[in-house]
Amino acid sequence: MTEATKEAILEALKSVQDPDLHQDIVSLGFIKDLALCDGVAKFTLELTTPACPVKEELREQARAAALSVPGMKQVNVELSAQVKSSLPAGNQMNGEVRNVIAVTSGKGGVGKTTCAVNLALALAQTGAKVGVLDADVYGPNVPIMLGVAGQRPGGAADGKTIVPIPAHGVKVISVGNLVEDGQPVMWRGPMLHRALQQFLQDVLWEDLDYLLVDMPPGTGDAQISLSQLVPLTGAVVVTMPQEVSLTDVRRAIGMCQQVKTPVLGIIENMSGDIFGTGGGMKTAQTYETPYLGSIPLEPSVRSGGDEGLPVVIGDAKSNVAEAFRHIAGELAREISIAAQSKPTLPTLEV
Ligand SMILES: Nc1ncnc2c1ncn2[C@@H]1O[C@H](COP(=O)(O)OP(=O)(O)OP(=O)(O)O)[C@@H](O)[C@H]1O
Ligand SMILES: [Mg+2]
Repeated sequence: MTEATKEAILEALKSVQDPDLHQDIVSLGFIKDLALCDGVAKFTLELTTPACPVKEELREQARAAALSVPGMKQVNVELSAQVKSSLPAGNQMNGEVRNVIAVTSGKGGVGKTTCAVNLALALAQTGAKVGVLDADVYGPNVPIMLGVAGQRPGGAADGKTIVPIPAHGVKVISVGNLVEDGQPVMWRGPMLHRALQQFLQDVLWEDLDYLLVDMPPGTGDAQISLSQLVPLTGAVVVTMPQEVSLTDVRRAIGMCQQVKTPVLGIIENMSGDIFGTGGGMKTAQTYETPYLGSIPLEPSVRSGGDEGLPVVIGDAKSNVAEAFRHIAGELAREISIAAQSKPTLPTLEV
C-alpha cells in the first residue's frame, strides 16, 4: 500500500479554494503545522478572520481533500485565524490596529451606534480583538449602550496615554467618558479634529483586529477629519428600508467617495412591518455595493441599548442577535478581501 506524504497532502489541499479570496488555501499560506504519521495527519487551517462565516465548510473541505490522498486513514484539522492588516505600516495609531471601519449613514437616528456596538460585540464573540471609538462628540451614545457611562478611562504611566475602557470584551473610548456628566459639548471643527486625533494617537489600543468608529449623524467635519487622520479600511453604511432612504444613502456614499473611503457594505436596519423591507438590498444593488444584511425592528434592540447590554449579548439566542452575528461575518469577509487587495509598495527590481 502507498505511503501518504506531506507533499501529496499539500497537493490535494490545493483543490480547496477560499471563496472570497479566490485562491487555494495552500497558496494563501493557510496550512500550518502539518504533521503526518502512519496515515494520520494533523494541521491547522489559519483563516484571515475568526468571524469567517464559512469556516466550518472550509475545514470540512480541507479534511476531505487530505483524506482523499491514498493511504490516509485520519485527518484532524484545527481552526485558527490571523487577521490581516488593511492599513499601511507606520500609521499614526498607538498600537497595532489592523483595520479601521467607520459606521456611517446619510442621516441621523437610523441605528449607527446600535450597529457599531452590536457588531463589535459579535466580532469579539468569535475571538477577534475589537475596539469601539465613539466619534460622535456631539451626542456620544456609545458609553450608555455599552454600559460604561460615568466610567473614566485610565491613564498610563507616561501621563499622556489614555487607556480605553473595557466593556463586555471590547475596548471603548468616548468623549462621553471624558467630560463631566451633562456638560454640553460644543465642538468646533478644529476641536473635533484634535479630539479624534487624540483618540487615534493617544489611546493605547495595543493590539486590535478591528476598530469600529461610530460616526456622528450627517456627512461633514468628522468624516473628513477621520479620513485625514487614519487610512480607513472602509465604511459601513446603515440605512432604513424605505425607498426614501435612497437619497440619504447616496449622500453617504458620495461622502465616502469624496474622502476616498471604500464602502464595505450596506446594512438595512429597522426592517419589518412598519418601515417595510428590502430597500437596503435594492440600494446596495443600485450602488454595486455589498449588502451585508438586515436587522429587524425589535423592542429588545432598543432596551438592550438603553440598559447597556446590547442584544447580541443581552439576548444572544434571539433572531436579532443572529442577524447581527450574520452581518458581522459578512463584514469580516469584506474586510479580509480589502486587506488582501491592499496595494503593496512596489518592489525594486534589479
Ligand atoms: N433594529 C432596531 N429595533 C428597535 N430599535 C432600534 C433598532 N435600531 C436602533 N433602534 C433604536 O433607535 C434609536 C436610534 O438608534 P441609534 O442611536 O443607534 O441611531 P444613530 O444612527 O446612532 O443615531 P444618531 O444619528 O443620533 O447618532 C435608539 O433608541 C435605538 O435603540
Ligand atoms: Mg449614534
